[in-house]
Amino acid sequence: MSRTFLEAVALRRSYYRLGSNAVTDDNHIVTTIDKLLATMPSPFNVQSTRIVMLFGEEHRALWNIVVEVLRDFVVPDKFAATEKRVDDAFRSGRGTLLFYEDSSTLEALKRKYPLYADKVDVWSEQCSGMHQFAAWTALEDMGYGASLQHYNPLIDEKVVHRWEIDSKWRLVAQMPFGKPMDAPSSRVQTSPPAERMRVIGL
Ligand SMILES: Cc1cc2nc3c(=O)[nH]c(=O)nc-3n(C[C@H](O)[C@H](O)[C@H](O)COP(=O)(O)O)c2cc1C
Repeated sequence: MSRTFLEAVALRRSYYRLGSNAVTDDNHIVTTIDKLLATMPSPFNVQSTRIVMLFGEEHRALWNIVVEVLRDFVVPDKFAATEKRVDDAFRSGRGTLLFYEDSSTLEALKRKYPLYADKVDVWSEQCSGMHQFAAWTALEDMGYGASLQHYNPLIDEKVVHRWEIDSKWRLVAQMPFGKPMDAPSSRVQTSPPAERMRVIGL
């Protein structure tokens, strides 16, 4: 990787048109996620994050589940558009990362440190977010485009059933990735970054 850390951070974007062609060896994704799981921070080093990697047919099966579930929520005359969006933005990609948090490790942490028990669920979300950000940036750095989706909890049951996911794992987010098929939209700043920070003592 020849990019600096800040360059890689700045280049990470949301992509909503994905292709299924590989831009790197799939095993490189697997080893990268392995490294992230080995190095990311977590509260009291609890390591509660779990990542399921779906490729090829298994990836497409996930987005078939999403379409199937959305059928019950989207009005019939809008459904074709919804399905097309899922097709172009997600199902057409190469794979999906599913981010879980293992509630059994988190419950054990609450029992071990009762003083912090009411903070653990928030920390768990933050911990998952850190893994999501790192994986998203790593995928971008490999040449993939990705986005972050939240079809949980609508899809949880069907996903558990299909891939025999541990019942103690809670689905937090889905990250479809693939070959970027269009440029990301231009960046929007809701206010200048300088207004979103304070420098004290410099
Ligand atoms: C915590 C979080 C939740 C998000 N949830 C979704 C989501 O459910 N669907 C989606 O399309 N994008 C989602 N996004 C992506 C944001 O909309 C996107 O990052 C933001 O608009 C900035 O665009 P960029 O990613 O191209 O820089 C989420 C981002 C974050 C950080």
